Amino acid sequence: MEEQIRSYLEEIGRFTAATPEELDQFRLRFLGKKGILNDLFAGFRNVPNEQKRAAGQLLNELKVAVQDKLDVLKASFEDRVENPLSGTDLTRPVDDIQPGAKHPISLVRSQIIDIFGRLGYTVSEGPEIEDDWHNFSALNFPEEHPARDMQDTFFISKAPDITLRTHTSSVQIRAMEKFKPPIRMIFPGRVFRNEAISARAHCIFHQVEGLYIDKNVSFADLKQNLLYFAQEMFSKDTRIRLRPSYFPFTEPSGEMDISCHICGGKGCNICKGTGWVEILGCGMVDPQVLLNCNIDPDEYSGFAFGMGIERITMLKYQIRDLRLFFENDVRFLRQFRGAW
Ligand code: DAH
Repeated sequence: MEEQIRSYLEEIGRFTAATPEELDQFRLRFLGKKGILNDLFAGFRNVPNEQKRAAGQLLNELKVAVQDKLDVLKASFEDRVENPLSGTDLTRPVDDIQPGAKHPISLVRSQIIDIFGRLGYTVSEGPEIEDDWHNFSALNFPEEHPARDMQDTFFISKAPDITLRTHTSSVQIRAMEKFKPPIRMIFPGRVFRNEAISARAHCIFHQVEGLYIDKNVSFADLKQNLLYFAQEMFSKDTRIRLRPSYFPFTEPSGEMDISCHICGGKGCNICKGTGWVEILGCGMVDPQVLLNCNIDPDEYSGFAFGMGIERITMLKYQIRDLRLFFENDVRFLRQFRGAW
C-alpha cells in the first residue's frame, strides 16, 4: 500500500490541468465516491497493525496533496478569467512606443533662455498685438520708414495704428517703461511680417530680444555676453565677429556673425564659402530710446540684441527649409526626440 501511495503522490506532484474539465476529472479520480482515496481508506482495515501508523500518515499526506493541487489549479483558472494578463510574459520587450518630442523651436527657445539665464537674464513677454508707439515710434523709427508700410507690416487698424508686432524690440520698450534699471532681460516671442512664404521667409516667426541697462554698460560687455552665448549654443571653439550695421534704436549698431560650425570656418555651402554666418543684430541702446522710456542716458547706458529662433535652429540642426517648422510633419518632429 505504501508503495502505491508514494506513486500517487508523485503523479499528483507532476499533474497540471489545461482546462477546468481536466481538473474535475482529476478530482473525481481521487475524491469521487468510487475514487482512489475511498478505495485506499477501505483497504486500510487490512493493513497489519504494526504498519498502520506509517500507512495512516501517508494516506493523510495523499489527501492533503490532492486537495492542495485542486486549490492551486482552481485558483489559477479563476485568476485567468479575472485577470486576462495572467500567463502573459511581462518580461517581454515592449512594442516600440513613440513618445512626443519638443518642437525644435521650443527646444532652441529653452536653450537660449537657459544660456542667458546663466548670465543673470530673466524672461519677460509682451503682447503680439502692438501699438505704433511700442513697435515703431519709441524705437526711433522715422515716419517714412518702410517698415511702417502696409507692404511690410500687418495692420489691425490705422489711426490709431495697431499692428501685429514686427519684432520683439517692442518688448524692450515695455520693459524700460515698467522696470527701473538695472534691467537684464530677454524677451522671446512670435513676430509677424507681411512676407511671401518661402524656404527662407515666413509671415510668422520667433525672435528673442535681449536688453541690459545699467550704469557703465559698454560695448565690451555686449561682445562678451554674445560670445558666451554663441559658444554655449554652438560649440566652445565658435568665434564671433561684429560688423557695423544700422538699426534706428541702437547706436552704434552691429550684426554678429559666428564662425561656421559646419566647416569650422573653411567655407562650405551653409556659409556660402565665407566661413561666417550671421545670427543676430545688436547695438548700444540709442540715448533717445532711453529718454523715450524716461531713463536718463547720462546715468545709464545699455545694449540690446535680437535674434530669430528659426535662424539659430536652422543653423544648429542644418535645416534647409523654414516651412518645415510650421507643417508639423511628425517625421520631421520625431527627429528631435530627446534632443535636449
Ligand atoms: N529688431 C531687429 C529685427 O527684427 C533685431 C534687432 C537688432 C534687435 C538690433 C535689437 C538690436 O535689439 O539691438 O531685425
